[in-house]
Amino acid sequence: MDTYNCIKKTSQVKTYLSKDVKHRDIAKILDAAHYAPSSGNIQNWRFIVIRNQETKEKIARVCLDQLWMQEAPAVIVVCSDSSNIKSLYQKKWKKYSKENCAAAAQNLTLQATELGLSSCWIRTFNELRLKNVLKIPDEISVEAVITIGYSNEKPKEQRHKLEELTFFESYGSRKRDTSMFPLAKHLAKFRK
Ligand SMILES: Cc1cc2nc3c(=O)[nH]c(=O)nc-3n(C[C@H](O)[C@H](O)[C@H](O)COP(=O)(O)O)c2cc1C
Repeated sequence: MDTYNCIKKTSQVKTYLSKDVKHRDIAKILDAAHYAPSSGNIQNWRFIVIRNQETKEKIARVCLDQLWMQEAPAVIVVCSDSSNIKSLYQKKWKKYSKENCAAAAQNLTLQATELGLSSCWIRTFNELRLKNVLKIPDEISVEAVITIGYSNEKPKEQRHKLEELTFFESYGSRKRDTSMFPLAKHLAKFRK
């Protein structure tokens, strides 16, 4: 699958089949995640892989009762150990550590798609309770909870029109350069 189609196919999926996910697929997903870029190459992301049913149920509850989550065969929690980033960027460490983890989470979901798996990125959780369930130390923050599994759910592909999101040369400028706009004409060959 090429990158463009992998990105387009990566939809947030909330129904999973009972088919298990192989350890080697989880390993590849984590490997892809840890190749994300990070400010100062600090690599502050940390991952927790959860397979245990009881733990998944607890996680679903602390994610404000998103009970569908417990059906996913695997859950990966992306945490941030910000101790090094804090000393490198005294003012912006919080923002950077979140951005780094988001880049890792996106790599993770794309790699899952490439392996034929589905995923959902979840940010709605009670962090204190989640840290308690997973024994996460106080100084570590939770940045994302990602469900992984096989699914028959189809990607939704609902997006705003690219033309409405894109400006030319300066913010807000909709001046049309006919060699570039409409963008759709350049995309036609990819969007088969
Ligand atoms: C940072 C972030 C947090 C999200 N949190 C949740 C969540 O808590 N629960 C949920 O069901 N979906 C969550 N989502 C999924 C979004 O709702 C989803 O990406 C959006 O509706 C677009 O759907 P699509 O990616 O399938 O096209 C989250 C996505 C992101 C990027």
